[in-house]
Amino acid sequence: MRTALQALTDELRRLKTAGVKTVAVSDESVAALRRIVQARARGVVAPAPADTPEPAASVSAPRTATAPLKAYEPPAPVYTPKPAPKPVGEALPPPPTVTLPAGDKQTRWNALLELVRNDATCKAHVRPGKQVVLGVGSVEAKIMFVGEAPGAEEEIHGEPFVGPAGELLTKMIQAMGLKRAEIYIGNIMNWRPELPTPPGEAQIGNRPPTEAEMRYCLPYLRAQIDVVKPDLLVALGATAAHGLLGVDTFKALGEVRGRWHEFGGKPLMVTYHPSYLLRPPVDNRKKRLVWEDLLKVMERVALPISDKQRTFFLDK
Ligand code: URA
Repeated sequence: MRTALQALTDELRRLKTAGVKTVAVSDESVAALRRIVQARARGVVAPAPADTPEPAASVSAPRTATAPLKAYEPPAPVYTPKPAPKPVGEALPPPPTVTLPAGDKQTRWNALLELVRNDATCKAHVRPGKQVVLGVGSVEAKIMFVGEAPGAEEEIHGEPFVGPAGELLTKMIQAMGLKRAEIYIGNIMNWRPELPTPPGEAQIGNRPPTEAEMRYCLPYLRAQIDVVKPDLLVALGATAAHGLLGVDTFKALGEVRGRWHEFGGKPLMVTYHPSYLLRPPVDNRKKRLVWEDLLKVMERVALPISDKQRTFFLDK
């Protein structure tokens, strides 16, 4: 009997620790438990169920005639505790060493894509059904745009800049007289930085990557630059600029935007992120600032610039 009671108590404790708040108990079992408690109060030991032998030493008083306690069956849990969300900014392993095979640009880029997709750290930070994201575009591109990190749309499609900011970036590229497929678009990060989100639910919102996350992914961006060999890079927004120039190099983007810098031996233009242009107030003054940066890029790669292009966003 004691054995049965102990087993019952242990099981209830275990369930409680696991987060179970209620258990189903039959009327019969409740009645039997009540009898045990009452018998105890009177200094009487209630009868043991048939399958739980009671040590003779514990029989200290006459038994009352009651129905045996039913064998205890653990109830189906009514509450499943959810694992705690992953902490943000946890320790990461050292950045990967990227070694690509010899061959033409496309062969090397394909090998890089395989490496990134199979990177255990990248994969561990991607929610089920979502994707690790590498850059996209022409391996012959002269211009490489570098953004921050995949967002909700990008991690679904496995491609950078396919959401609203991406649509605007595509329009900016077209305004330069180019097609999106003619340039290369990458990100500092290869996964969408996580926010605490219950399992099975969609992440709401984005956060900028930590310095450690950017450091981890940077070898993959360097490898893309090494494969594509663009004439120049354009950092879109403060996070990309911090990732490429260093987090301590500026406080406000205005300190570095619109000027030429250098990264990995390539000229680097810094401009605002397209999402900044989408944020109210949406005005031509902001658009003009970005456009002036892009005119400098066009001049540097010797793209033709029409008079109309030179005056974009000046007159409205
Ligand atoms: N913003 C970025 O910086 N990168 C993307 O891929 C999408 C949105």
